[in-house]
Amino acid sequence: MALYNDIVMDNFLNPKNVGEMENPDGTGIYGSPVCGDMMQIQIKVEDDKITDAKFKTFGCGSAIASSSMATSMIIGKTVEEALELTNKQIIEELGGLPPVKIHCSVLADKAIKNAIYDYATKNGKYYAALEGYDPNADDDEDEHGAVEE
Ligand code: FES
Repeated sequence: MALYNDIVMDNFLNPKNVGEMENPDGTGIYGSPVCGDMMQIQIKVEDDKITDAKFKTFGCGSAIASSSMATSMIIGKTVEEALELTNKQIIEELGGLPPVKIHCSVLADKAIKNAIYDYATKNGKYYAALEGYDPNADDDEDEHGAVEE
């Protein structure tokens, strides 16, 4: 049953950037309104660039693969570039996810935004992409397409 492609399987079985860091510059946690799974992402920022990212996921294999890929994608990016990352780009880099698993990639996308929000709040930074952003909002619009099979 080839439900998952090789890239997804590799990021699930050999995930990159797993764990927790000491003294992160920002920590974001997001719980999926779809399945209740949780993700934590931490970032290190130097000169407005993300130099490191780590994740812990209490979620399924697709969430692990998504966070492995998403953290790899933001390391080396500026904060503003990382804010532009969408769950669709994560899915594209993974070579696709089954429709019922789309919401798992949203965990990574939102946890990254929440980590950057935490960093911005603690350091008095302003990013236009965070204007009006509420890390606690139960915004599940991205997940709607995922419920049907
Ligand atoms: Fe909950 Fe994938 S993150 S089912």
